[in-house]
Amino acid sequence: MQPQTVANEISEIIVTGEQIQARIAELAKEIDAEYRDKNVLTLGVLKGAVMFMADLSRALEIQVQMDWMAVSSYGSGTVSSGVVRILKDLDADVMGRHILIVEDIIDSGLTLSWLVQNLEARGAASVEVVALLRKPDAVKVDLDVRWIGFDIPNEFVVGFGLDWNERYRNLTGVGILKPEVYS
Ligand code: IMP
Ligand code: MG
Repeated sequence: MQPQTVANEISEIIVTGEQIQARIAELAKEIDAEYRDKNVLTLGVLKGAVMFMADLSRALEIQVQMDWMAVSSYGSGTVSSGVVRILKDLDADVMGRHILIVEDIIDSGLTLSWLVQNLEARGAASVEVVALLRKPDAVKVDLDVRWIGFDIPNEFVVGFGLDWNERYRNLTGVGILKPEVYS
């Protein structure tokens, strides 16, 4: 879906689809280099990371095993609750695996720091994070994020996998949702 379709609901496109693809190519090179000699398990966090996972994994030259988890921290609102529930666990055994968590966005960072600890506690050999987007508050939490696509302002954004109330996920770029849409 192109931005003009929802022009009345989006105040500004902050990252275009083209910019995302260019950045994904750069990230893929770095991830290739890191995991050249390792058997990596990419772990997409449903549903927001679906687009990023699909494009990033295809941009990689190395072979990866792809798995998914669904966790809930938000409900249908726009503020993180900090309470994380596993809605769908990954299928693979975590023990001894090199895991690369693929995330759409880091806002409070609460979901991710919980997830990293959870995977380490289950015996992962290594856990790294690649996130397409990062908001300013993410620096407050003690979380080592290896790769970031773009640092963005503290606004509620949608597109390229990110939703509000399950809408806008198939927007090609990332845009700021007009507050009147959700308030
Ligand atoms: P955190 O725990 O506050 O870092 O938020 C984690 C999750 O909340 C992300 O993986 C997203 O799925 C969702 N989220 C955070 N900010 C936004 C946003 O601006 N738009 C849509 N979803 C968001
Ligand atoms: Mg997410």
